Amino acid sequence: MTIPSKVRLVEVGPRDGLQNEKQPIRVADKVRLVDDLTAAGLSYIEVGSFVAPKWVPQMAGSVEVFAQIKQAPGVTYAALTPNLKGFEAALQAGVKEVAVFAAASEAFSQKNINCSISESLERFLPLMDAAKQQGIRVRGYVSCVLGCPYEGSIAPTKVAEVARELYHMGCYEISLGDTIGAGTAGETRRLIEVVGSKVPRNKLAGHFHDTYGQALANIYASLLEGIEVFDSSVAGLGGCPYAKGATGNVATEDVLYLLNGLGISSGIDMDLLIEAGARICAVLDKPNGSRVARARLAQA
Ligand code: HMG
Ligand code: MG
Repeated sequence: MTIPSKVRLVEVGPRDGLQNEKQPIRVADKVRLVDDLTAAGLSYIEVGSFVAPKWVPQMAGSVEVFAQIKQAPGVTYAALTPNLKGFEAALQAGVKEVAVFAAASEAFSQKNINCSISESLERFLPLMDAAKQQGIRVRGYVSCVLGCPYEGSIAPTKVAEVARELYHMGCYEISLGDTIGAGTAGETRRLIEVVGSKVPRNKLAGHFHDTYGQALANIYASLLEGIEVFDSSVAGLGGCPYAKGATGNVATEDVLYLLNGLGISSGIDMDLLIEAGARICAVLDKPNGSRVARARLAQA
């Protein structure tokens, strides 16, 4: 299979990147991050979540963030919504695209959204109906596709089953989440083969956390399997509050460097992206998780 000539990056830094931060982050800093990412040329930014604030306190300010960001034409600003209540809140905030999230592991589903996999899928149905009526596109996530922090290994057939359900209920794209970042390139190729038999490959995306340092290899493996959409997080920020020890997503800067090296276009400006990452790391007082950004900043 030939490598795709064009790739779309889904920037999840403001959501996946910040949701796990213990320290309060000012709305103004979140807004600045989103605006910086828009300026860097990202065409899809996951801005926040409309989830229970008791579960993920950091995302409680998402209404204000959506109200204050500068939305550029042609850019998608999306939010996570676990249920109809979250969807209605997102709608009120003017959100134009949402994502639902399920898991391929029963234990993770219980820990993350307090229900079984099948209950979660049922819960999405009224949300999907409402979204259809409102003309809102819905993306779907499947977590724990290459392992679960509670159950260990997960069968690719289970991932395929959940992905197929999400696709059939109307999610236009299914993002396969290696929540704990433990998957390898071989496992990734096998996963795509199995899931690709149930959901067209051009409807699949990769979401690789980088805990074991395998995310770029997994993205390359996915490119070889024809996947054209990848989630990433500026400066490698993030983690999931319900996946202890898992680190952030693969850094957007590092993915961009890989894509540039392969001659794959993405429309993103590396310098502006590095600035965006450096600024939020300074706010958080955290080391930059992007190897590319660290190298470039050391040379500057
Ligand atoms: P629950 O406690 O079972 O829900 O939580 P409930 O319906 O019993 O409601 C409990 C309370 O939450 C009530 O308030 C509801 O009103 C409120 P109270 O009466 O106690 O004051 N509530 C809400 N508030 C705001 N927005 C809502 C909402 N829904 C209920 N949408 C629930 C179930 C799903 C709500 C909860 O478990 C939750 O919010 N979980 C979110 C967890 C989360 O955000 N995890 C991180 C994102 S997923 C991720 O990171 C993985 C991903 O990156 C891919 C990967 O890496 O694998 C996507
Ligand atoms: Mg994630």
